[in-house]
Amino acid sequence: MFAACEKIWINAQIASLDSRQPASYGLLTQHALGVSQGLIQNIAPMSAFERARINLNEVEIIDVHGAYLTPGLIDCHTHLIYAGHRAQEFEQRLLGLSYQQIAQQGGGILSTVGATRAASVEQLIELAIPRLKALIAEGVTTLEIKSGYGLDLVTELNILRAARQLAQVFPIRISTTLLGAHALPPDYKNRADAYIDWVCAELIPAAVAENLADAVDVFCEYLAFSPAQTERVLARATDYGLGIHVHAEQLSNQQAATLAASYQAWSADHLEYLDEAGVAAMAKARTVATLLPIAFYFLGETQRPPIDLLRRYQVPMAVATDFNPGTAPLVSLRLAMNMACTLFRLTPEEALAGVTRHAALALGLENKIGQLATGLAADFIVWNIQHPAELAYQVGVNPIKQRVFAGELTYV
Ligand code: NIG
Ligand code: FE
Repeated sequence: MFAACEKIWINAQIASLDSRQPASYGLLTQHALGVSQGLIQNIAPMSAFERARINLNEVEIIDVHGAYLTPGLIDCHTHLIYAGHRAQEFEQRLLGLSYQQIAQQGGGILSTVGATRAASVEQLIELAIPRLKALIAEGVTTLEIKSGYGLDLVTELNILRAARQLAQVFPIRISTTLLGAHALPPDYKNRADAYIDWVCAELIPAAVAENLADAVDVFCEYLAFSPAQTERVLARATDYGLGIHVHAEQLSNQQAATLAASYQAWSADHLEYLDEAGVAAMAKARTVATLLPIAFYFLGETQRPPIDLLRRYQVPMAVATDFNPGTAPLVSLRLAMNMACTLFRLTPEEALAGVTRHAALALGLENKIGQLATGLAADFIVWNIQHPAELAYQVGVNPIKQRVFAGELTYV
């Protein structure tokens, strides 16, 4: 019903990404989209809008003259909040050291942990704001943020507190993830099981008590935590009803994706070394495969995720930045879309679904965001483009005409 709307966008090409729409991109040509109380109230052809009896004094009409609308973009895997930087490690890697060697010498994640522990919540917020603004400016309306650079009670919770505060101040939805099991802190050297005991007994309950975490994540890798240790964290998270993500098969195959799927994980992420058994398990559990091509590119990896198998088993594929100081210091979801196409051979339509519908699924938010359909959040972008494939094709100019968050036009 357009009559009940507060605002109506008219003359739009709506790339709805709605899986029920038969056209590619879920495209609805010459449509109108009406919004009420932050939600999409109606999407219908212009002919229906023209027939509707609308009181023009009460409804704001926004004519986009044939421009494209898509759902707001969703970056479903980031480590946005940290202090310090790792430019010297970038230099060391170019002089011949590997990411693994740097980590084993106490650099890598632990160097960021040192800088992050020394920062206050206010400082963490200040450092995160320019990164957040860059994502907002390119069309991101929902963002996942992980902890994982504290590895102690105060700092892990401070990162999540900073994430929650950013969501109060900026026009963006933020999904938070407790990644306490990211690396072994120095004070637990050679005592990984004791650290996992602490994550399960102290850290997860403390985060839950303050409602700071929507999900947990574990870095399951020979460099980090074993499948058995990972499983203990996933079981504890399940007890608390938290969502589950796993950093899986990034540098080696640990059968981490199969483990994640056995806990009905929302997503398994990276997946360069994923095998067919893992793909089959993910398909059965409807666990999303979150692809992170910027980290693949930045580490100069050569082993690609098994995209054809993921397609064959119809595993939903999301695309995210993995923004972090070590393996992905490039703050652009549009760049991740481009690299998903050029490096992993996704189609531009798969890349766009990867940052909308499938990214929503990867955050357990598929009933709220990720598609343009009646009843979902009115988070969308009006683009100055001729075809939706342009969003993955070109990076460096910003074709945003309007950014709409919860039904409100936003400027940042
Ligand atoms: O997603 N793989 C583990 N964690 C991050 C890298 C973290 C870092 O190097 O600081 C990632 O690639
Ligand atoms: Fe990551």
